[in-house]
Amino acid sequence: MDLGAKLRDRHVFVTGASSGLGMHFARLAAGCGALVTVGARRRERLDALVGELDALGAAEARAVDLDVTQAASVEAALAEAGRAAPLDVLVNNAGISEARPALDISEALFDGVLATNLKGVWLASTAAARTWREAGRGGTIVNVASILAFRVAGAVPAYAASKAGVVQLTSALALEWARYGIRVNALAPGYIATEMNADFFGTPAGEALVKRIPMRRLGEPSDLDGAFLLLATDASRWMTGTCVTVDGGHLSSSL
Ligand code: NAI
Repeated sequence: MDLGAKLRDRHVFVTGASSGLGMHFARLAAGCGALVTVGARRRERLDALVGELDALGAAEARAVDLDVTQAASVEAALAEAGRAAPLDVLVNNAGISEARPALDISEALFDGVLATNLKGVWLASTAAARTWREAGRGGTIVNVASILAFRVAGAVPAYAASKAGVVQLTSALALEWARYGIRVNALAPGYIATEMNADFFGTPAGEALVKRIPMRRLGEPSDLDGAFLLLATDASRWMTGTCVTVDGGHLSSSL
């Protein structure tokens, strides 16, 4: 089965696409011939990415301003994307981490992590689902969770709690929206060096962490491609409310 071909001519919206995994998912989808809309706050980066996506893909890519913590911004971004073509796939990828122990986290930082990682998923998912339901068409949502939804590490308590919330929200939305033909699944990556964490992997603690991954290496963004394409296409047509882990075995590391 050619999973990539299943994305051809689909309209895929990726949040937080100005770097890291979001940028990778946007490139992957464009390379499969999808119409890709990328949303984030750093517009200049998105505009550069759109040029690249156009060269990769069959369909014209678009960039929209998006702050996933703000309902008005999310609604405007999805409406703008929908005017170009009805949306088929929403990828809730935007996320931030605090990299601080619990006692050093301010209320504002805690709120910011939860607002981006959890509330943002809820805002974008409900905005997309409302449109799909009104149009009488289904849709597909892929939420980017993390292995920190299932186990913990030091200095990321808000992040871990937010990602556990994403997994549970995925299931709750899947339950409510299956009747509308809307599927909601999550992808839980293990550690992959991106802007979010690259500094850490240069430290002794980071190197020690890599040794605890059963496969003894960090992931590459492309290690997620199979699971991403599965969840974003009708190859997963009887899957909803689930979470697929891709982590080099990290969740199975010895306790
Ligand atoms: P990253 O920092 O490169 O990308 C995060 C993106 O989200 C950035 O483009 C950032 O601008 C965007 N963003 C942050 N706040 C936003 C907001 N309010 N509105 C719109 N966009 C916003 O980091 P990475 O690693 O690519 O993260 C992508 C997703 O993958 C995140 O949800 C992260 O939690 C998740 N993840 C990453 C892992 C890793 O090891 N890199 C492992 C597991 C999950």
